[in-house]
Amino acid sequence: MPAEGEDGLFTQSWFPVCMSSEVGPGELRAEKFLDGKVVVYRGEDGIARVMSAYCPHLGADLSIGCVVENRLQCAFHKWEYDTDGQCAKTGIGDRPPHTAQLYKFPSQERYGLVWAFNGDEPLWDLPDFEYDDDDIIFRTFRLPALFNCDPWVFAANTPDMQHLKAVHNIQFNVDDPHESVDWSDWGFRYKIIAAHQQGIPIEWTL
Ligand code: FES
Repeated sequence: MPAEGEDGLFTQSWFPVCMSSEVGPGELRAEKFLDGKVVVYRGEDGIARVMSAYCPHLGADLSIGCVVENRLQCAFHKWEYDTDGQCAKTGIGDRPPHTAQLYKFPSQERYGLVWAFNGDEPLWDLPDFEYDDDDIIFRTFRLPALFNCDPWVFAANTPDMQHLKAVHNIQFNVDDPHESVDWSDWGFRYKIIAAHQQGIPIEWTL
């Protein structure tokens, strides 16, 4: 199985791009994404957006630009890109060419993260838990170093009953719950009733 991007292609999925706390109102930042670079910025409306990072005019790096109201302004000739990525104005006031458009990634902000979908339209929404977001306690942090590993390798542990038993010492009360896995087009869910380490009873939905 090729690693992400090894064949020039990346999985179509939601990817976390940065933490919400890292891009305040009126701020922007550069992030590596899909073997390239994007700009994440937050305008006056408080919405974080993810755009391609290079100005269609002469290719300046937009991450050294600034945020004006809800627009992203290029540092070089002050062209400004609106919330759809379209150039809305130029620095000297002439009409911007309609081809001056940044690629705008579908994005969402949830669980303390800014997410971008690799594609024109998201194929599915971010996963929900069984509770309102306000009733969930979550903690978001950057790891001190990058794992040299594709994200799917981590995700693949979740349906791996051997992993649950051998690595986490979970003992199922019944047979391995392969048959209770509920598959959907883009994911799956299943419940386990089991004992965790030291016999602690658990009832989880994964
Ligand atoms: S390079 Fe961005 S406005 Fe000219």
